[in-house]
Amino acid sequence: MKAIFTVLAVAGLMVAGNAMATDMPADGKAKCGACHSIDTKKVGPAWKDVAAKYAGKADAEATLVKNITKGGAYGWKMGMMPAKGMGANDAQIASLAKFILTLK
Ligand code: HEC
Repeated sequence: MKAIFTVLAVAGLMVAGNAMATDMPADGKAKCGACHSIDTKKVGPAWKDVAAKYAGKADAEATLVKNITKGGAYGWKMGMMPAKGMGANDAQIASLAKFILTLK
């Protein structure tokens, strides 16, 4: 009985997740979510604004990977982006850079 309820609860969460416009990937929430959200400024810029800044730039993905890995200031005047956020690994950084550039 318990197992059935668990399955239903998980299915419910998946439906709720899909209904939202865009949600931050789990890695993003864990390693970046304290400072970033998809469409509002927090400690750092909204990722939609980052996507707009890099829209149409050929080397956007490589630049983002580099900037997230190194950290620093990139003209937002909000302070410093910490290197690798809160401990993201290279694979997570690569996939988050891709994700950010899909935002509009
Ligand atoms: C402690 C807060 C903090 C955390 C954690 C953090 N960031 Fe940032 N991030 C910032 C700030 C502040 C800036 C803006 C820097 C500036 O003023 O130029 C920034 C800027 C950025 C930018 C813009 C870079 C550019 O080239 O314009 C990207 C992309 C970014 N962060 C991605 C991430 C990702 C991905 C993670 C998680 C792996 C992350 N951030 C975690 C604070 C944070």
